[in-house]
Amino acid sequence: MTEHQPSATQLPASPIAMSPFGAPASEPVPDFALDRPRDPEWYKRAVFYEVLVRGFQDANGDGTGDLRGLTSRMDYLQWLGIDCIWLLPIYESPLRDGGYDISDYMKVLPDYGTIGDFVELVEEAHKRGIRVIADLVMNHTSDQHPWFQASRNDPDGPFGDFYVWSDDPDKYADARIIFVDTETSNWTFDPVRGQYYWHRFFSHQPDLNFENPNVQDAMIEVLRFWLDLGIDGFRLDAVPYLYEREGTNCENLKETHEYLKRIRTEVDKLYPDRVLLAEANQWPADVVQYFGDEETGGNECHMAFHFPLMPRIFMAVRREQRYPISEILAQTPKIPAGCQWGIFLRNHDELTLEMVTDDERDYMYAEYAKDPQMKANIGIRRRLAALLDNDRNQLELFTALLLSLPGSPVMYYGDEIGMGDNIWLGDRDGVRTPMQWTPDRNGGFSSCDPQRLYLPPIMDPIYGYQSLNVEAQQRSPGSLLQWTRRMIEIRKRHPVFGLGAYEELTSSNPSVLAFVREYDARSALPRWGRREGGTAEGAGGREWEQPTPWEHDETDRILCVNNLSRFPQPVELDLRRFIGVTPVECMGGVTFPPIGELPYLLTLPGHGFYWFQLPPPREDLER
Ligand code: GLC
Repeated sequence: MTEHQPSATQLPASPIAMSPFGAPASEPVPDFALDRPRDPEWYKRAVFYEVLVRGFQDANGDGTGDLRGLTSRMDYLQWLGIDCIWLLPIYESPLRDGGYDISDYMKVLPDYGTIGDFVELVEEAHKRGIRVIADLVMNHTSDQHPWFQASRNDPDGPFGDFYVWSDDPDKYADARIIFVDTETSNWTFDPVRGQYYWHRFFSHQPDLNFENPNVQDAMIEVLRFWLDLGIDGFRLDAVPYLYEREGTNCENLKETHEYLKRIRTEVDKLYPDRVLLAEANQWPADVVQYFGDEETGGNECHMAFHFPLMPRIFMAVRREQRYPISEILAQTPKIPAGCQWGIFLRNHDELTLEMVTDDERDYMYAEYAKDPQMKANIGIRRRLAALLDNDRNQLELFTALLLSLPGSPVMYYGDEIGMGDNIWLGDRDGVRTPMQWTPDRNGGFSSCDPQRLYLPPIMDPIYGYQSLNVEAQQRSPGSLLQWTRRMIEIRKRHPVFGLGAYEELTSSNPSVLAFVREYDARSALPRWGRREGGTAEGAGGREWEQPTPWEHDETDRILCVNNLSRFPQPVELDLRRFIGVTPVECMGGVTFPPIGELPYLLTLPGHGFYWFQLPPPREDLER
């Protein structure tokens, strides 16, 4: 622990030490050795937190964040209440694409530490009930990877076919270019081999050739290597692009899905409680394919990001109308029983506008990227607070939506304190600056000379680390950080947010988005491990039949009402289905008037929202 970090005893005591289901709020992650079963569906209720290791905490004073630094901040993450850390790539890499250009899958980048540091990180996280997943880039490697060097130098050698080579740069012409700011073609000529190689991203990131069974096997070996070290899963980066076929756009091909099914089978065989999270920036109908077959409960990825929802949250609030959100959720197909969406507001990339229409994209640029410097590829390179003009009401509304819409929320490091960005840094570095811990040198991120930092910290008068930092916000009960922590706590008290059905309520006021989240454990779908077709076996040959602590006979219902307008708004909701229920506001526990026959009238301040628990009417409880 560093000197600036509050120790667990200094942190304000959590008012919710126990979940309503009797389990401590964050139990250690059970180990295979213990006789308690692991919970194979933990990801459905988890709050995820995306960490740029390079930018979180520097333990050895070299100006770059590292694994030991992150481990030293584990108490903070536990205090915040997050359930799972997602590590951006930690592998050996020349770092020309933030580590997504891997040069050795089995090594940790020395700047970040060692395999031993990684194992320690996972252990320290598990002790605190926090899981750890990491990015895995299967689609491509760095051109520095020994496989690529062997492939270009020795076309007939064992790695000759590890990449996609061609004499014809017009092949697969229907595939779009993704990094339009830097690339003009998906092919680049290699003078060493005298052929073109295929790449969906930067030209220094050649795509692996998944037609080659050796590539398929090599990648499974990589997965196993990290799973054996105790990792809880992977964010599968750029997963739609594994295969190519002439006459198609080379995305979401059936061969890609077959390979993912194979990976899932391998993972389930030995590691039954790990998670695969698909990064597939696609339309909902295409993304749901990454969950696999409905009748199996899901046999590809357990989770997938909901890319089209994200820009529509920004659009709906700026237009002060719920329709962009309502429409995309209405178009989102049902997902298999064992699966979950990952939802997010911002991440380490540009706010992508690939999944919107041309008109919507123009609108988003006009509203959220007023300076051309804010644009990157097909998107906007800004952080959440900057996009929302640092408006506290909007920050709260967006966070409330993130924590209540269907799916598991994925927060981006620094957004919990409203960190700013630096649009003058290259590529997407503007949203990857050092985490701001204290008002001290380098924001408490590193003790090095400021010139040595991997990127300059934010120092402007609004978002600068001198005033905006974790230490200051931990001391201020009304800070965004304290508020966010409280909201996470409330979410964790109600597993319905992760598990429940979603039903939008229509109202005559288009500025208000109201919905009910509802979960009834008694009628819930069969649990994994007890599905038809036999039981799955955990390591050690044990069946996962024992219910997890939260899986008691519980029902829960939450009504969420959000005012997307900057002005106060009234709304009348038809809540007759809940007649006799007395709504209880979740933040303060205040009871509201009981629901009767008449439309239920609520008034909301500009950008205000309510979360109400709808407990069963008294007579039901007494029955
Ligand atoms: C993913 C990552 C992005 C990276 C790209 C290419 O989209 O999120 O940061 O540049 O893959 O690897």
